Amino acid sequence: MSDKIIELVGISKEFDGGTLAVSDFNLHVNRGEFVTFLGPSGCGKTTTLRMIAGFEIPTAGKILLDGKDITNLPPYLRPVNTVFQRYALFPHLNVYDNIAFGLKLKKTFTKAEINKKVSKALQMVDLEDFEKRKVTTLSGGQQQRIAIARAIVNEPEILLLDEPLGALDLKMRKDMQLELKDMQRKLGITFIYVTHDQEEALTMSDRIVVMKDGEVQQIGTPQDIYNEPTNAFVADFIGESNIYNGTIVGDRKVRFINKVFDCVDDFEINAKVDVVVRPEDVEIVKPEEGIVSGQIVSSIFKGVHYEMIMMVGKSEVMIQSTKEVKVGDTIGIRVSPDNIHIMKRDFVSNVYDGYIDKINKVHFAEGAFECDVTQLYPGSHLDSEGYVITTTGEKIDLTNVPVRVEVSLKDIEIIDNDEDGDARGSIISIVYKGDHYQIIICTDEEEEEIVCDTEYLWNENDRVSVKIPKDKIKLTLKAVEKK
Ligand SMILES: Nc1ncnc2c1ncn2[C@@H]1O[C@H](COP(=O)(O)OP(=O)(O)O)[C@@H](O)[C@H]1O
Ligand SMILES: [Mg+2]
Repeated sequence: MSDKIIELVGISKEFDGGTLAVSDFNLHVNRGEFVTFLGPSGCGKTTTLRMIAGFEIPTAGKILLDGKDITNLPPYLRPVNTVFQRYALFPHLNVYDNIAFGLKLKKTFTKAEINKKVSKALQMVDLEDFEKRKVTTLSGGQQQRIAIARAIVNEPEILLLDEPLGALDLKMRKDMQLELKDMQRKLGITFIYVTHDQEEALTMSDRIVVMKDGEVQQIGTPQDIYNEPTNAFVADFIGESNIYNGTIVGDRKVRFINKVFDCVDDFEINAKVDVVVRPEDVEIVKPEEGIVSGQIVSSIFKGVHYEMIMMVGKSEVMIQSTKEVKVGDTIGIRVSPDNIHIMKRDFVSNVYDGYIDKINKVHFAEGAFECDVTQLYPGSHLDSEGYVITTTGEKIDLTNVPVRVEVSLKDIEIIDNDEDGDARGSIISIVYKGDHYQIIICTDEEEEEIVCDTEYLWNENDRVSVKIPKDKIKLTLKAVEKK
């Protein structure tokens, strides 16, 4: 039986100034569970955690604890403790006093009780003999354990941890990950853990919540999320992936990297899809036995396996195998149908609401673009003043006429500055798709998204602008409101 301890019901947080940090977040957490919020910086992890702790009040939705609404309950009345990345220990107090601090404040425990609780907490974090030490003499890892001891000594029902290992070096992080997981099991406390590190999330969690731009992308066990990502963002964020544009070409047949593969998912024919293949699921065979063959262009030993790149036309295939193939060798590859993960494509083309201005430019995505307005009236032409003349000789003033604008992802040129193009914004997402990158640019004011396919690598947060060839902007009249 699942025993829900906490439930987030459609919670959102909009900050003053209009940042929607968290949007319609739904989750239940079971008692004793280890749940991790995973996502890139700025996706709303800390904000969600702070709402659970009571430091922020949601602008919509509610939070239930054991079925009771605690949305507006102040932090100190919640059975919750938080451990932050910057473990704010008191430098002038020794280890014992740091941990006992909260208990002493409560004034409900005798000295003997406090002693017992502190000893037990120190034992949990494996620092039994450290009571008298000054915290400034401890290593980063030890200080972080003291911070955890200080949180668990209050016996919270739920422990919130916000990137608690972020300040530690890699080796220390790895050790602490296992220790924390172990500690959580022993204590039986519910852990809600925040990290941007996918490996950390996969190692420690019972379930992972993958977030992007304040929205939940997927909730599942590490295995679910790794094996069955719901979209290209999750696939790209979790582990190494080959991601390709594909097309369904028959009953359980998908074409990508110019070959047809058998798959297990049933999609309608001609559907545009994202195809994800994990590098470890690519089997190496003789060239003539593969579904496709190609040359190895890079091969690196990674400790346990070799990571190799094979070229198929312009596409790269990443392969992980314990078997080494030398650079320059040609091999065949196969992928078992159930290792080909197919997802409905997020974007095939960009679609906007726009309008035509006085000089026949079309406005959308906060920009003004040259376009061919005669396509709105088949067979029409422009007169010398720029009015559209239809086949029946009717003269049409298009000023302010609303249109639907469609631009294919590959027809958008990204420019290295925010002046020379016709619309501008910042790059908010980059997903590698085998032979090109899919980039999302977000405009400044309206936060319109411009999705582009490009072979060039850009950086997240780059300021850029875009140009679109005049003949690649498809226009249709919005309303059929013929006068
Ligand atoms: N107090 C605040 N006021 C305004 N915006 C905020 C505040 N706190 C966070 N934000 C914004 O909300 C978004 C989510 O932030 P945060 O929850 O800290 O993300 P994460 O922890 O995933 O890095 C970001 O765009 C951030 O700038
Ligand atoms: Mg954060």
